[in-house]
Amino acid sequence: MKSEYQKELKELQKKNLYRKLRVLENHRGTRASFEGRELLLFCGNDYLGLSRHPRVLAAAHQAIDRYGVGARSARLIAGTTDAHAKLEKKIAAFKQKESALVFAAGFLANLGILTVFAGKGDVIIMDKLCHASLIDGARLSGAEIRVFPHKNYEKCEELLKKCTARRKLLVTENVFGMDGDRADLKELARLKKKYGAFLIVDDAHGTGVFGKNGSGATTLFSKSIDIIMGTLSKAIGGLGGFVAADKDLIGYLTNFARPFLFATALPPVLCESAHEAFCVIEEEPALVKKLWANIREVHQRLTKLGFRLAEPESAVLPVILGDEKKAMEAFEKLLALGIFIPAIRYPTVPRGKARLRITVSAAHTEKDIQGLFAAFKKIKMEKS
Ligand SMILES: Cc1ncc(COP(=O)(O)O)c(C=O)c1O
Repeated sequence: MKSEYQKELKELQKKNLYRKLRVLENHRGTRASFEGRELLLFCGNDYLGLSRHPRVLAAAHQAIDRYGVGARSARLIAGTTDAHAKLEKKIAAFKQKESALVFAAGFLANLGILTVFAGKGDVIIMDKLCHASLIDGARLSGAEIRVFPHKNYEKCEELLKKCTARRKLLVTENVFGMDGDRADLKELARLKKKYGAFLIVDDAHGTGVFGKNGSGATTLFSKSIDIIMGTLSKAIGGLGGFVAADKDLIGYLTNFARPFLFATALPPVLCESAHEAFCVIEEEPALVKKLWANIREVHQRLTKLGFRLAEPESAVLPVILGDEKKAMEAFEKLLALGIFIPAIRYPTVPRGKARLRITVSAAHTEKDIQGLFAAFKKIKMEKS
């Protein structure tokens, strides 16, 4: 059996699809060292730099002293603390929903949502570029899955029109994590209403990035969206997933979501740091402004150099290179120049759509952006 796995790994290497872990040392948010070299990081999803914000760190330190490091059990057994309740109240208000529930990870939240609200005989209609956790949740639910081409809402409407199932679930991301573009929530809200569907929006990459005080674009449509999902692992800077919805839906999830019932809770220290992160977002709007200034700056500079980037709609700026080999070569070249930008390849993105996924943070300085620009300029000059 072992040789079968080895053969498969060799195949991956041949196709430039093999992944290996690179250990970054002396990690300082936007900087780290790798094999003795200093690196500037334009990877990761810490869009506001909150993973190291002094207020967030102070909240975490205090929480460790108070609660320790673990959660001790699943939420319904011994894992729910006042820190969970406080965070859930904050998230519900932030997302303008009646109630919220936190999970130990965003992936688990999506598995929970889809397996609880869909089942045999139901139909899930989803965007082709939905995240793996939504796809796996849909598969696990036993419902029939119908996929519409990315953001093709005419096709989506056709699927809804044809669907005779009692329960139709319409599923999208708000910001698509590997492309950085945004769903048309207004159109999806219209379709949901017209066809009586249940609308689920994954706001993992939107939370903290858009809207008034970074509350995410979903809040503009919070009345039309039945379930708003998000993670605490991206702009919130920590770890964990959340679901915001009406009280009854949250009650239903609490009773039936297996990734909630049978997994150890999010540790209270992460609840307290996430709570403080939400407070920082609300009280320091300059952070979201800085993020957007940085996004525009990176976009403008790389576009001027001749790299083809779509108009920025989020903090994710992919440079699509197509060929997996090309993407890996570009990654290695940038790494040699001291810039870490991951090459995203199949199966994370479709075959032949490999890319460098640049992510921008409010924590990047002007000097960091100049460093990025200088490295891309060098690559460009080598090519021409
Ligand atoms: C769109 C989307 N949804 C869900 C998740 C899962 O969230 P977590 O990393 O908190 O498990 C991710 C993480 O990559 C994501 O990009």
